[in-house]
Amino acid sequence: MTTARRGLLRDKVTQAYVDIYGTEPVMLVAAPGRVNLIGEHTDYNDGFVLPCAIDYETIVAIGPRTGSQVDVVACDFDNERDSFDLDTPFAKQAAEWKNHVRGIAASLADKGLTLAGANIAIAGNVPQGAGLSSSASLGVALAKAFTELHQPGALDETELALTAQHSENNYVGCACGIMDQLVSARALAGSALQIDCRSLETKPITISEHLAVVVIHSGVQRGLVDSAYNERRLQCEQSAAHYGVAALRDLSIEQLEAQRAGLDSVSYRRARHVVTENARTLSAAEALIAGDLTTLSTLMAQSHVSMRDDFEITVPAIDRLVEIGAEFLGTTGGIRMTGGGFGGCVVAIVPKTKADALEAWVNQHYQTPDQGNALFFLCEPSGGVAVL
Ligand code: GLA
Repeated sequence: MTTARRGLLRDKVTQAYVDIYGTEPVMLVAAPGRVNLIGEHTDYNDGFVLPCAIDYETIVAIGPRTGSQVDVVACDFDNERDSFDLDTPFAKQAAEWKNHVRGIAASLADKGLTLAGANIAIAGNVPQGAGLSSSASLGVALAKAFTELHQPGALDETELALTAQHSENNYVGCACGIMDQLVSARALAGSALQIDCRSLETKPITISEHLAVVVIHSGVQRGLVDSAYNERRLQCEQSAAHYGVAALRDLSIEQLEAQRAGLDSVSYRRARHVVTENARTLSAAEALIAGDLTTLSTLMAQSHVSMRDDFEITVPAIDRLVEIGAEFLGTTGGIRMTGGGFGGCVVAIVPKTKADALEAWVNQHYQTPDQGNALFFLCEPSGGVAVL
């Protein structure tokens, strides 16, 4: 399944490259999307996250060209083209995908790498606007492709992830944390990755072969994401300032309550989400290791409630979808919204033997806003960025 899907993508991007540039690419680089199992909006609070790379990915085909021009074709946007000169400063484009490519080139230059002209073709199968990090997979794949073409080995995986985040923050214009890029760069097949977003230390957490990671798209496209995201981030920083800590990661639950006076209720609830979510994320990793699905399902349910009531990033359709899934699973598996919020997907961790029945149950009880069935993605926990 996984191999067949990658094969199709590989053929598509290679064919586009050959058609347009008249020669074979010298390298193909693949980077995965991700689903976050638990630990939402904790990364930019220096906290803990537990994402898992998935077998939906972006592949970049690259080859050299003389001069300082970069030519790009985006297979997923009707073979739309872009062309820019590496010696010309970054200029924001109307098409978002172009900002990702130009932003990565600019970010690598910011890091002191010397790039030269390149021909590029891009194709991906990470659903866009679903909260599965299609952008991060694009950014990480591009950063690796440029680096390996011009200065092989110049950046390790963490530096590639930081470069991709730098591009998002400074060129694309999203104040995202490091989770998506880091897991896309450093994930190990068969595992989720526990990340300490302060030290950037990672710990692979094996996902038992008996478990399925199921992603279910609610059918609600994510909207107003950037403004709401940036607002949450600001509220977290304000709460941290109230408590006199560098980041909410440093706040204990006792301190959260004891020094609450003078903090407005919204900021208090934002802080409570982050503090409790950090604790849940660490416990969830332990539960996964122990194969304790009962505890995992409780933690994921609590995480969802906290996102709904304290962080206020869910929407009614997503709440309903989680409720329906939980009715079926009971304590035999966990389910919660995943990603930045305001639509998109939920993630469920269930025994493989239950995955089909879960799908049937959801189809029977849930309808997307346009009266259809929710889309199911049965995901393999996958490895990080790689030259194919
Ligand atoms: C988006 C961001 C991440 C993270 C999540 C929420 O995916 O890119 O950095 O903040 O939202 O957990």
